[in-house]
Amino acid sequence: MAIIKATENDKQEFDSAINELKEYFSSLAVRKGRPLTYNVLTYGCQLNESDSEKLSGMLSSMGLIQSEGGELDAADVIAFNTCSIRENADRHLFGNLGVFKALKKNDRDVIIAVGGCMMKVPENVDRIKKSYPYVDLVFDPQQIHKFPVLLRDAIRKDKQLVNIAADDYIAEDSFFPIDRKRKFRALVPIMYGCNNFCTYCIVPYARGRERSRSFDEIVRELSDLAANGYKEIMLLGQNVNSYKGEDGKTFADILRAASDFKEFSRVRFMSSHPKDLSDEVIDIMGTRPNVEKHLHLAMQSGSDKVLKEMNRPYTIDRFLEISEKFRTKVEGGSLTTDIIVGFPGETEEDFQATLDAVNKAKFDAAFTFQYSARPGTKAAAFENQIPQDVVTERFGRLTELTNKYSEESNKNLVGKTLEVLIEGISKAGDMTFSGRTITNHLVNFTIPEELGIDPGDDFLEGKLCEVRIDRARPYSVDGVLVSMKGE
Ligand code: 5AD
Ligand code: SF4
Repeated sequence: MAIIKATENDKQEFDSAINELKEYFSSLAVRKGRPLTYNVLTYGCQLNESDSEKLSGMLSSMGLIQSEGGELDAADVIAFNTCSIRENADRHLFGNLGVFKALKKNDRDVIIAVGGCMMKVPENVDRIKKSYPYVDLVFDPQQIHKFPVLLRDAIRKDKQLVNIAADDYIAEDSFFPIDRKRKFRALVPIMYGCNNFCTYCIVPYARGRERSRSFDEIVRELSDLAANGYKEIMLLGQNVNSYKGEDGKTFADILRAASDFKEFSRVRFMSSHPKDLSDEVIDIMGTRPNVEKHLHLAMQSGSDKVLKEMNRPYTIDRFLEISEKFRTKVEGGSLTTDIIVGFPGETEEDFQATLDAVNKAKFDAAFTFQYSARPGTKAAAFENQIPQDVVTERFGRLTELTNKYSEESNKNLVGKTLEVLIEGISKAGDMTFSGRTITNHLVNFTIPEELGIDPGDDFLEGKLCEVRIDRARPYSVDGVLVSMKGE
């Protein structure tokens, strides 16, 4: 399997396909007597969200307008960006495809395209070929830079086009028009793929081998983002700490380069593997004020035996040692994690070791998962799968414990006045605003009238303010705005 970089030639084809599609959609719009729309449905992680920003950018360049409605909004082009990790991914995709069947039946010009991690699992592609003939295009999540060319070919041929490659691809962000979802936050992928092959995980199969973007290209992108007013940078990769740039550049170099831009109030990153996290990165987090004091470090299990079976090359003692180092060097920092319950062969004793580790690490938040077998992974073929009722029962005990620590972490903030980066109106829709601290704690807050700030505008997004924290909830804290911070 080779790693193939997108070339100048690919870029020319890309531009010419976009132009051709622009003409095609513009005459279709005349025929229909209305502007055409697109709907990109995104499931899964932030890397998928980043890909969707590129898909949206490409579709906008073709003259289409983003549909305003919800997830299942009808549109002229519907693109699914699927995920293989999140629960019920299959149900989402195949259920929603069924919903759009009628739309396609009524209007032959509607285009349905499916990409994302699920399309790297051959069974899913076979199922589309067999039972969903009205899907126009199946595209490779590693080659979204080919999306316009494939879309054009699918329209020309007027029959289902499936394009899933065996090789791994990489295209720099500068290749794409990008429609960033939030005007203050930029998702910046720095590397793609994963070489770790944890035995439960489908990602190395779906996203291929690790490949890093060029350091110089990343710095150029960061510089553009700084000039364009972005305040928050999210450096993304399945395993950011194994970034390998030109001339031996490491992730620490990227983190330093990003935080050198004083325009950025927050430099964040996801995800880190305990085996690759360097002391240098922890030092940077402890000393640079605009680097977030939050480390997401997946533990997965507290049992050395289970970690070994998972092909996670560290012991729980080593994991706790790194956690301790983070706690000491990054004062007041928050540590979050992922934990899987019910991995094949997990005994009650192994599970107790996980609870013990949680009691020691006292995670500020934890994403807890019930193990589920992913076809094609090693663990799916392990014999000693755990019965569902046992998994459910352990999961209940684990979340009770992790919730206790996240609530405690939130309680520790009560009474403090903290700097918050405003993200917008909170989901509650009651003129409560939401934002995050530098430790990634979610804060919902109100704005006292006497401050004379007009909360009706979205100009607050991306700004820094001081919030007094009054109350802790299990997953967030509540507070009151004290003052806005100067630019
Ligand atoms: N079953 C349950 N959880 C999983 N994860 C990945 N694969 C599986 C699986 N097969 C979890 C891991 C990972 C997070 C993103 O999803 O905890 O860190
Ligand atoms: Fe999956 Fe493990 Fe790679 Fe994370 S490090 S993407 S869990 S294989």
